[in-house]
This record gives sequence, C-alpha cells and structure tokens, in this order.
Amino acid sequence: MILQIIEKKKNKQELTKDEIKYAIDEYIAGNIEDYQMSSLLMAILLNGMTDKETIDLTDAMLCSGDIIDLSIIKGIKVDKHSTGGVGDKTTLVLAPLVASCGLKVAKMSGRSLGHTGGTIDKLESIANFQTEMNMERFINQVDQIGLALISQTQNIVPADKKIYSLRDVTGTVNSIPLIASSIMSKKIASGADIILIDVKVGTGALVKTLESALKLSKTLIMIGNYYNKKVKCVITNMDQPLGCAIGNGLEVIESIDTLKGHGPKDLTELVLNLSAHLISSAKNIPFETSLKEATSNLNNGNAYLKFKEMVKAQNGDINNIDLAENVISVKSKTTGFVKQIDALKIGEIAKKLGAGRLTKKDKIDHGVGIVLSKKVGDYVLQDEELLKIYVRNKDIMVNDILDCFEISESLGNLKPLIYEVVEKI
Ligand code: URA
Repeated sequence: MILQIIEKKKNKQELTKDEIKYAIDEYIAGNIEDYQMSSLLMAILLNGMTDKETIDLTDAMLCSGDIIDLSIIKGIKVDKHSTGGVGDKTTLVLAPLVASCGLKVAKMSGRSLGHTGGTIDKLESIANFQTEMNMERFINQVDQIGLALISQTQNIVPADKKIYSLRDVTGTVNSIPLIASSIMSKKIASGADIILIDVKVGTGALVKTLESALKLSKTLIMIGNYYNKKVKCVITNMDQPLGCAIGNGLEVIESIDTLKGHGPKDLTELVLNLSAHLISSAKNIPFETSLKEATSNLNNGNAYLKFKEMVKAQNGDINNIDLAENVISVKSKTTGFVKQIDALKIGEIAKKLGAGRLTKKDKIDHGVGIVLSKKVGDYVLQDEELLKIYVRNKDIMVNDILDCFEISESLGNLKPLIYEVVEKI
C-alpha cells in the first residue's frame, strides 16, 4: 500500500484522505520504514499538495495525539508562532505584554532547530525556570496570571515530532504543505481561539522569498478556516538577526531590557506591531487603539511585571541568568555603512559556539552568544566595535564572524521590517 501511495504522489495524483491517514498512522506505529516515509515526503516536496490533501495531512497529524481543551480558562485564549529566525526572542516580550493587556496566553513552545533558536532553550537560561508542568497546573496558571510558557508535552502531535526529525535530515523541510501542516496541527492541538503567525522571510528564515511567504501564509489561514480558528499572518524580515543578542541568556537579558522600554528599535517595533494585531483580533477593536494599549503597557512597566510574575510562578530566579565569563570585542576592519548582516551565517556561528545543538543529543550552553553593536544601516569606523562574543574558551572564529558583515560606502534601499499582514485567502 505505501508503495502505491508513493507512486501516486510521484505521478502527481491527488492522495485520498484514507491514503494520507494510512501513511501517517502506520509510520507512527512503526509499520512504515523511514526510507519509505522519506520518499513520500520528497515526492510531496517536489509535486506539492492540493488544499484538500494539506487539510487531510494536518488532520491525520493532529489526530496522532492529544487535543488540549482550554475552555475552562476564562477570556480569549491566544497563541503566537514564528516560523523561525535568528535572535528571534519576540515571544518572550509579546506573551507577557499581551497578557498584561488582558489576553490569555497558553503557549507551548519549541527548542532550537537548525540555525534558529527556540523559546524553551532561552527560558532555561533563567536559573531553575521550569518549562515542564502537567496540564492541570498549566491551565491553572494561565487562568490565574494570564500566561504560561512551557515546552510541548510528549503527546502533542507525536506524528510531527517523528516526521520533523526525518525531514530535518532528508532535505524535506522546505515544502509549504509540510511546513503548514506541521505548524497548524500543533497550533490546533494547543487549543487557542486566535493564532498569530510571524512568517519570517529572508536569508535567516526557512522561506527565502516574499512570494513563498505569501503562499505559506494563505495555506496557514486556509487550514485555520477549516478548523474555525482565526489565523492572522504577519510576514516579517529575517535578512539580519532580530535585535542585537543571539544566544539564550543574552536574548533573555535583551527581552527584559525591551520589557523595561529600552530594547532595540526593530525588536520593540515588531513586538508592538504583532501584539497590536493580537489585541485587535481578540478585543475586536481597531489596530491603532490596540497599538496604543500595547505601547502604554510596555512603557508603564505592566508587561515587565507580568513577565516577573510568570518567572516566579515557574520557579525561575530572574536575578540569575546564565552568561559566559569571557567577552571578546570584535572590531571593524573598514569604515562604511553596514549594508548586510548574514543572519544564517551568524546563526550557524552562534550554534557552533554552543548556543544551539549540532546533534539532537547535544546540551546547549545557555551563556554563550553574540551581541551586535552595529545593525544594518549603521555607520562604522575602522577599529570601532562591530560586536561582542560571549564565550567559555577564547578559541573563536573572528574572521568567520567578520565575513557575516557587508560594509560599503553607500547604503542603497533598506528593506522594511514588516512586509505584509495576511488575514484572508
Ligand atoms: N516550524 C514548524 O513547526 N514546522 C515546520 O515544518 C517548520 C517550522
């Protein structure tokens, strides 16, 4: 049967709901081998899927595990997801900010993957912060303080866990139906009413062109419509790292600075924009009114108080964040404008420093990373600091890091931070 399914997809024919369900269920049960599933995934990557097939795939994945019922939590439950980027600590700021505006955030997050970071690894750089808890405690915490950030429980879409690991090592990550069904099965299983997806586009993102980002956004919304969930996608720039910090503890510190109202300009702008979209959808009020509410809660300290409340509820010690002891200042070799900072390369270097995993079993070093002193558009003098590196030993790749920067006499047109908001298909 699996061979016929592979042949059918190879020949660009539409798979039936039963065939898709069979492939997923039997793979999870161990009756379909990795090499057969890889072959099917590659056929999907090359030949695509119709909307009906994509929904059937999402449904088969969703039904492989638990679906969380958040209905006993009072208020509107919201969730946010990013398709992944470098220095993307948006959730750490946005979640407490929108919770401080009265929204309920019951969020299950992931760990770092490839060159991109993960919220759970970042939170674990706070001493004793508990990222695992049972459902009852999770739901109680959201009900009481409006916010909990935990790692995905074992039984949320187990099919995605198994298939994602396979995609990661078989060159089959980059497929719109596969990405969309992977994201949406997890979001639907997590039970929120309103879902905001930050679709990253650029060198440091999974999706490299605006055209593919738009197609992915429409597919995510189409799946959301099927499940009666309100899904909004915001397509945002990931050509350079977001904010200045890359690395777990460093990103938590930058998030706290942002929650106190003095974070980097791009991170602050993105967090406020995404928060305003969530607030406006949840409260059914205009975007501008929501933006004012979010800005005022960031500036008056309410968002930071909410973050502290969450850290306390999850046993973390906010005064104890892991940071490496050696700090190396890297200077520019030339004078000029910073024209580009390659997010993908910087992400890979941070990973090699220990901020991410090279294999699934690796332990992360929460204290290492990079802090940019200059961003795209800034002017830098020869011998002026471009960035700082936080390391355990001093054996580092300064030239590799300098190669991530393009410095030139003129700047040209800068790309926007926020490209487009997609709400309808
Ligand atoms: N994020 C996910 O959860 N799944 C994908 O396939 C890609 C990004």
